[in-house]
Amino acid sequence: MSRKAIYPGTFDPFTNGHLDVLERALNIFEHVDVVLAENSQKQTLFTVDERLEMIREVVRDIPNVNVDVLHDGLLADYARQMGANAIVRGVRQVKDFEYEFQMSLLNRHLYPEVTTVFLMPNVKYTYVASTIIREVAMLGGDVSKFVHPFVLDKLSQKRAERRAH
Ligand code: PNS
Repeated sequence: MSRKAIYPGTFDPFTNGHLDVLERALNIFEHVDVVLAENSQKQTLFTVDERLEMIREVVRDIPNVNVDVLHDGLLADYARQMGANAIVRGVRQVKDFEYEFQMSLLNRHLYPEVTTVFLMPNVKYTYVASTIIREVAMLGGDVSKFVHPFVLDKLSQKRAERRAH
């Protein structure tokens, strides 16, 4: 039986911390689907298409990775449809835990065959969250150590667009 995991998130944008978690997941699972979940309640800086383009570019040369989007519906149903037995989530700090714990148990309730696996990124990424990257980048700070050059370009373009308005 092939071990397949899904790695869901909002990825606004995909950071080097996300990439680190993905690479760790690929050491455990034969195949990983990165799943961009469209959350209508969340205000995002980048559109779904922009976020997908960035993820696809970052993972372009990594084998056994697929990038997909979950437009609506439950992640647990998606995992069932894809035959995934694991959901990968990156955790950085203790404060991530409560929300992750709830989601993990709810997903297991909805789809008992799925197990959530928590992976810790390299310590150098423990303070790298998309929220803070977005904020620093939109204020003109240097985030080149924390995102892929393609993502860095998209952040600069977004800043320029916003300043033009
Ligand atoms: O990167 P995020 O914003 O922390 O990811 C949250 C995400 C996308 C994993 C979560 O919102 C999710 O699973 N959304 C899909 C809809 C769903 O199944 N919600 C119930 C989760 S128990």
